[in-house]
Amino acid sequence: MLVLGIESSCDETGIALYDTEAGLLAHQIHSQIAMHTEYGGVVPELASRDHIRRALPLTSACLAESGKTLADIDAVAYTAGPGLAGALLVGASVANALAFSLGKPVVAIHHLEGHLLSPLLADPAPQFPFIALLVSGGHTQLMAVRGIGQYEILGETVDDAAGEAFDKSAKLLGLGYPGGPALSKLAELGDAKRFNLPRPMLHSSNLDFSFSGLKTAVLQLVSKQDELDVQTQADICAAFQEAVVEVLSKKCLAALKQTGMNRLVIAGGVGANKQLRAGLDAAAKKRRFEVFYPPLELCTDNGAMIAFAGAQRLKFATPAGSYAVQPRWDLS
Ligand code: KG4
Ligand code: ZN
Repeated sequence: MLVLGIESSCDETGIALYDTEAGLLAHQIHSQIAMHTEYGGVVPELASRDHIRRALPLTSACLAESGKTLADIDAVAYTAGPGLAGALLVGASVANALAFSLGKPVVAIHHLEGHLLSPLLADPAPQFPFIALLVSGGHTQLMAVRGIGQYEILGETVDDAAGEAFDKSAKLLGLGYPGGPALSKLAELGDAKRFNLPRPMLHSSNLDFSFSGLKTAVLQLVSKQDELDVQTQADICAAFQEAVVEVLSKKCLAALKQTGMNRLVIAGGVGANKQLRAGLDAAAKKRRFEVFYPPLELCTDNGAMIAFAGAQRLKFATPAGSYAVQPRWDLS
């Protein structure tokens, strides 16, 4: 079965072709970051218009990359939510129009399920069951994953997502948008011990997270500095990153302990963070659990994870033509 995947929930247009026998045949991403940078965040209307411009050329590029034609496609999967309503509608319309014209079914995919299953595209792929830490710009959740569609939320953020905290703190430090990768790069030059930042909810008795206080602590720290020279910026970045990574890692260990599971999967944009990966790899060695990550280029939004999730969910496919998007949508 050949599944075309379409992702358009935010500021990346992602298109991919996944074959249930041969694996991922092609994937193409267009990031709108440069377009939104001057506004300091995603402008929904601009995002929708750009998805319209990109979706079909990227589909053609995927077909060319894989040597397939439209007629080879057996089903079309698209992100139906959560995300920006207008942006989601572009992907939903393209998916339904293509599927309708080909007489093939469509599969509406939850964006977070795409992220959650993306480590299964790596080699080696994790076996079920596993603990998944989903850390993106919009979500921070710990889940027990027992199979496709069997997701139990163990804990989640009570306020900001980890990626959101990275982005907001980066903005306070004048590092632009989206600041996560820039903050993490600058942190490499910093001394994490110069400033002491809080570890919110580190010792709470549950698996929930809170990151808005950390962002406020960064704000206070920044406003206290007479001069924000590059070294001070780097030191704040390092202290911030260390705090986030410590909280995320400790909660992952607690989730493994609580469930007795020994496999951990990291998904979502913040999963690209090098310090988080290094910390978890070290803990995995010491405590004898396995940790899995998606391929680096599939950590942030992409069509491959949607095509893959679509292939797993084909039994829920519906005929093309009638669709709705769900800008707000809980995974379990
Ligand atoms: O999964 P994703 O592409 O989009 C959402 O569904 O939100 O994640 C984007 C988030 C942004 O907040 C971005 O700053 C963060 O992931 N991010 C990082 C890194 N790369 C991306 N945060 C920390 N370190 C990174 N290396
Ligand atoms: Zn995402």
